[in-house]
Amino acid sequence: MNEITITLPDDLHLHFRDDDMLGETVPATARCFGRAIVMPNTVPPVRNAAEAQRYKERILAARPAGSNFEPLMTLYLTDRTTAADIAEAAKAGIKAVKLYPAGATTNSDAAVTNIDALGPVLEALEANNMLLLVHGEVTDAHIDIFDREKEFIDQRLGPITQRYPNLKLVFEHITTKDAADFVLSAGANIAATITPQHLLLNRNDLLVGGVRPHNFCLPVLKRNTHQQALREVVATGSNKFFLGTDSAPHEQSKKENACGCAGCYSAWAALELYTQIFDDLGALDKLEGFASFHGADFYGIPRNKGSVTLIKESWTLPESITLPNGRPIIPFMAGSEVEWKIKSINN
Ligand code: NCD
Ligand code: ZN
Repeated sequence: MNEITITLPDDLHLHFRDDDMLGETVPATARCFGRAIVMPNTVPPVRNAAEAQRYKERILAARPAGSNFEPLMTLYLTDRTTAADIAEAAKAGIKAVKLYPAGATTNSDAAVTNIDALGPVLEALEANNMLLLVHGEVTDAHIDIFDREKEFIDQRLGPITQRYPNLKLVFEHITTKDAADFVLSAGANIAATITPQHLLLNRNDLLVGGVRPHNFCLPVLKRNTHQQALREVVATGSNKFFLGTDSAPHEQSKKENACGCAGCYSAWAALELYTQIFDDLGALDKLEGFASFHGADFYGIPRNKGSVTLIKESWTLPESITLPNGRPIIPFMAGSEVEWKIKSINN
C-alpha cells in the first residue's frame, strides 16, 4: 500500500510547555492531530481547574489561523490535591489527572511523594468518571533504572487497580513486555499509550557508539526484546493501546549537556513515523484504530470527523529547528529519512 487515509488522529500524551514555546509546539501538533492530552508538568505545574483554564487559553491563542485543534487539559497531582479539586475539575470538563511519582521525570519535583495517601483523590476520580494517567516508574534509589517500570507494576499498579476496580487508568508511555502483558490481562478500564521512540528504538540506540542524548527519554529505552514486544502488541490491533507521542521539547543546550534532560521532541514527524512502523509490521490496517479510535473510545469522547491521507514518499527531517526565542532544538530523528509523508488533511 502506498497511500492510506485515516480518521483524524489524537495525540493522547504530549508536552507543549508554555509561553513563547507554544508558538513552536502547538502548530507542530495541530498540523495533523485533532486533539491532544496536554501534560501538566509545566513550571509551575497545572494544579487546579482555574490554572488549567488559563493554560488552555494560552494554547488556543497559539493555534495557527483557522485551526480547529482542541487541547484536552489535565491536572498535576500533588500531595495537596483534594477530592474537591477533582470534583471542580470534572465540572470544568477536565477529563484526566496525571500522577507523577515525585522525582520520576522532568518537572516532577512537586508531585506525589506518598501514593498510599491518594485514596480520597482516587475515589473522587472514580466517582467523577475521570481518568488517572500514570507515569509508571518507582523512584527508589536502589532500584535499577531499567527495572523501574516493572517494579512500579508490582508495587503500585497491581494494588491500585485491585483497590479501585472501576477507575479508568492509562499506563503512559509503556516501555516493557511486562507493562504490555499487565495491560492485556487487566480489565477494560486499563489502557496504555506507546510512543514512537519506544517502537522504533531500543537501548542500543541510546548507548552504542557513544551517548545519543536526543534518544534519551523517560522511561528510558529498554532492551530490544521489550521493543519487539511493544511492536507485536500494536500489530495485534488490541484496543487497549493507543497513540501518545510524549513529544517533550528541550532546547539543544539542555539535551547536549553534562546532565541532559529527558524527552524527545517528536511532533514534527510522529504521525509519519507511526505510519512507517505499522507499515514495517505489515499492519497498516491497524494504524487507524491505534491513532484515531482506541484513545477517543477509552476517553469517552467522540471520534474526530476529519481525515488525514499519508503517502509513501520519503523526506528528510531537519537537523535543527529554531525556537521562537531564537535558540535551537533538535527534533527526534533529526536528519533521518522518513518513509511516509502527509499528503492532505480534510478537517
Ligand atoms: C517528559 C518531559 O520532558 O516533560 N520527558 C520524558 O522523557 N518523557 C516527562 C515525561 O513524560 O516523563
Ligand atoms: Zn510525557
